[in-house]
Amino acid sequence: MEHIKHAMIATWKMSLEGMQKASDDLFVNDDRKAALLTAITDVENNPVYHYVGYGGFPNGHGIVETDASYMDGNTMQFGAVAGLRDIASPIAVAMELSGKTKDCFLCGEGAKQYAVEHGFESKEMLSDYARQQYEQHRKNIMEHDTVCMIAKDSEGLSCGVSTSGLPFKHPGRVGDSPVIGSGFYCDSIVGSAAATGNGEDVMRGCLSLSVVTHMKMGMGVQQACETALAQHLERLATTGYQAGDISVIAMDRYGHCGVATDMKQFPFVMMDDEHHNAAVYVCTNEDGTMHIQKADDYWLSQWQGD
Ligand code: GLY
Repeated sequence: MEHIKHAMIATWKMSLEGMQKASDDLFVNDDRKAALLTAITDVENNPVYHYVGYGGFPNGHGIVETDASYMDGNTMQFGAVAGLRDIASPIAVAMELSGKTKDCFLCGEGAKQYAVEHGFESKEMLSDYARQQYEQHRKNIMEHDTVCMIAKDSEGLSCGVSTSGLPFKHPGRVGDSPVIGSGFYCDSIVGSAAATGNGEDVMRGCLSLSVVTHMKMGMGVQQACETALAQHLERLATTGYQAGDISVIAMDRYGHCGVATDMKQFPFVMMDDEHHNAAVYVCTNEDGTMHIQKADDYWLSQWQGD
């Protein structure tokens, strides 16, 4: 099988600019962790995106609480934060925590205390726009988009995730994004996967681990995404429960990517050794069959979401 030395995949169109900025980290410096930090902080810092970092919609008490995670597929170590308040880059804190084998998943006040003590930038994460939306519509916004990214360099794979979670969630609510096996998983010997969608639905199937397990059992990366998602949705359906929008991205150990969604269309971003310019692709779900193509100018001009 063709071995791609450098590759990166990310959820949603909002990842495009960050991935473009991460190009030198990946292709010149061969540093997957730096590439993920550059790309994810770019999304976290952008107030235009209302489900990640600064400008994210707040919880039901009007306070932004963020979740983030990072996993290194070589060491299998991970770091995660949940319900983190007033810290500019949740992914940077998760990365720092991934260097530890104990105390690597922190929540709430303890996570904030760790971040402040270790010199991470403090910031009021509620933008004026997000505050206005909270005051006017707080019962009406149900959608949310998580930034998930997987990167491969010559040494292995890593993944990172960051989100402000469900808009107007109950204070303290934690979704799948910082939960290992659910929102993310990474094993450089097999591959990596990450999920976006309603965290409660994703967690019920430990979806990211499920995709990686299907790869471990010998499935190709695209089939693993489709099978893991379909099996999970079918199982939930047997309980009479209709899951909300869920999408997964994945990469195998050779740098090949896969995507699956239960939405009509799910945009994602990729770059690799052959295509150094990160570009937006669209996974279209036609009755359970995934079609993947590069987004053209018309599609990009019409897309309303992140
Ligand atoms: N998938 C992000 C969340 O549910 O919080």
